[in-house]
Amino acid sequence: MIPIAKPYLTERESEAAEQAVLSGWVAQGPNVKEFERRFAEYTGAKFAVAISNCTAALHLCMIVTGVGPGDEVICPSMSYIATANCIRYTGASAVFAEVDPVNFNLDPADAESKITSRTKAILVAHQLGMPADLEKFRKICDRHNLKLIEDAACATGSSYKGKKIGCHSELVCFSFHPRKVITTGEGGMVTTSSESLRDRLTLLRQHAMASSSIDRHASAGKLSEDHVELGYNYRMTDIQAAIGIVQLERLDSIIEERRIIAKEYISGLSEIEWISLPTEEEGYFSNYQSFALRIHPGSPVTRDELIRVLGESGISTRKGVMTAHRETAYRDIYRDVNLPVSEAASDNSLMIPLYAPMSNDDIKRVINEIKKAFEV
Ligand SMILES: Cc1ncc(COP(=O)(O)O)c(C=O)c1O
Repeated sequence: MIPIAKPYLTERESEAAEQAVLSGWVAQGPNVKEFERRFAEYTGAKFAVAISNCTAALHLCMIVTGVGPGDEVICPSMSYIATANCIRYTGASAVFAEVDPVNFNLDPADAESKITSRTKAILVAHQLGMPADLEKFRKICDRHNLKLIEDAACATGSSYKGKKIGCHSELVCFSFHPRKVITTGEGGMVTTSSESLRDRLTLLRQHAMASSSIDRHASAGKLSEDHVELGYNYRMTDIQAAIGIVQLERLDSIIEERRIIAKEYISGLSEIEWISLPTEEEGYFSNYQSFALRIHPGSPVTRDELIRVLGESGISTRKGVMTAHRETAYRDIYRDVNLPVSEAASDNSLMIPLYAPMSNDDIKRVINEIKKAFEV
């Protein structure tokens, strides 16, 4: 079976994890600090704060933005459910806007049309690794005095207008779940341009404890441990960070491999008139965290048939990105929500295998089986 995704871990990550274990410092410590330093340097952001996962990172970003009960945050419904969940954790409402039908990123015009006097922020996701149009969202947010937060769970190493995702907005959240381009098992990061937000995130991730673990360790019990507000345990471990440091060093070469596979798919599948493929417009650079095909109306093969046929020939696929408003946890609250573009995009798309390293034979097999399904 060709899997849909596979983490790219080597002896180097294994050795780094072993060293962290043997050092005795296994919770948040010096490796986390170093991972943050390198991640900020890589993305061109001023600061980076490591968090236990991207969902927790998004939750903290809502809190530091002041989002709470009665507020609204605009986001796509067509995204992993964590995008909307992090808004609801605070007691605020997620207000769903439509997405672009091909690249599945939040539609700026529809997002702007959903702004009300209660809107506090726009949470834009870089879906499947393809950057959203940040300049347009920046203008909308400035026009309406809103905060712009980026859900860059899928976009580590992607770039927009020549600059890495992570340095464009005040708050950008990343995921290092094994489905992502680099992984720490579970893991997340926030990059920020604001020193005060960095300090607040650092505080909140550690129970809002006034002193850090490193400071307390060095003080040998002399530092007091005041908890200055309601905090969380959203820490990353030093074992995870040790793996992350190695993964980050390899990130650009991993993305290079992924982009070669994406190119092969695009040239191999473009003759099928019934599908559309991801398009990388001028100024957009995707890490191709996932590769989605969209099946056109009237196609002789439906999305679900294609999934079945590929599965029977040993190729794993996944249905397109979900829509949160149709999930059980949302359905009743969002009964009156009308998102035909998102629903059609979700229902008619699927993800095909893309991971590094992927053999040429496997890439060809995927292309050939899809062409065979469409009798091309
Ligand atoms: C767009 C998006 N946001 C948030 C998340 C949550 O990331 P994590 O699993 O690190 O909490 C994911 C994970 O799949 C995602 O795809």
